[in-house]
Amino acid sequence: MKLRVLLFISPTIVFFLMWSCISWAQAPREEIENTAQHLATLLNVGRLIVQRNQALINDPRIGNKGFTPEVFERQVLDEFIRETHIDLFSSHLPSLAKELLPVLLQSSMEVVADAQLVINQRGIGYKNFIPATFGSQAARKFSNRSYVKIKQTALNPRNLKNMPDAYEENLLKRLATKLPVDASFTEWIDNETTLRSVTPIYYSQDCLVCHGNPKGILDISGYPREGAKEGDLAGAISIQIPVNKR
Ligand code: HEC
Repeated sequence: MKLRVLLFISPTIVFFLMWSCISWAQAPREEIENTAQHLATLLNVGRLIVQRNQALINDPRIGNKGFTPEVFERQVLDEFIRETHIDLFSSHLPSLAKELLPVLLQSSMEVVADAQLVINQRGIGYKNFIPATFGSQAARKFSNRSYVKIKQTALNPRNLKNMPDAYEENLLKRLATKLPVDASFTEWIDNETTLRSVTPIYYSQDCLVCHGNPKGILDISGYPREGAKEGDLAGAISIQIPVNKR
């Protein structure tokens, strides 16, 4: 009798132990993948808010635009909730996201704060404060103060600091030949010790004044136009999260 009970119980215990080990190992992975996704979304939302306020920012007739870091923050938080149904300061967020998302928000607000003098200049239209410059700077500020790296990149970047590494280049080349996909590409590399996530960005109609045709002719920002079409791959937001450096 005792033996039978034991024979029944031990596989159950072994199974339970194995199951808890697997789920312990998986939970952080899933959490890291979700966090990478949320970080890409948050940077994209910041870009979108700059884009929405572009006419105001570029208006030469107005001095003080009222596009303060706090106004920017409010609009980002609202848009982030609209897109993800997640409140950035909610207590339900997994701990990694709770740790990193506010750092990216803070970095983004600092970029807007640093640009106040430029934004509030009267008499100047185009000020080079656009989604791309905002995104590059916010990503860099965040990466400098975190073990997680975020980067805006493209195959032939205008800003050489956005140059892709070998991994990003390979993936961008593959993405460029495929039909647009909204989803991001996520992979564990280096013996599963680092998560790499690449979220593509595609050109919409209003990007083409600068990135479209006529190819090679300088746009308002002083760069040669790429000759891109609507729906072409523009670049990506690339994120690297090492597991062990926490
Ligand atoms: C006013 C002109 C202008 C418009 C409009 C514009 N861009 Fe750009 N874009 C630039 C400039 C200038 C840079 C380089 C930014 C920097 O110095 O970091 C850039 C850089 C980028 C980059 C980063 C890679 C790189 O080349 O350094 C991406 C991705 C990008 N743009 C996508 C877009 C998308 C998508 C849109 C439309 C939603 C858009 N851009 C609209 C001027 C523009």
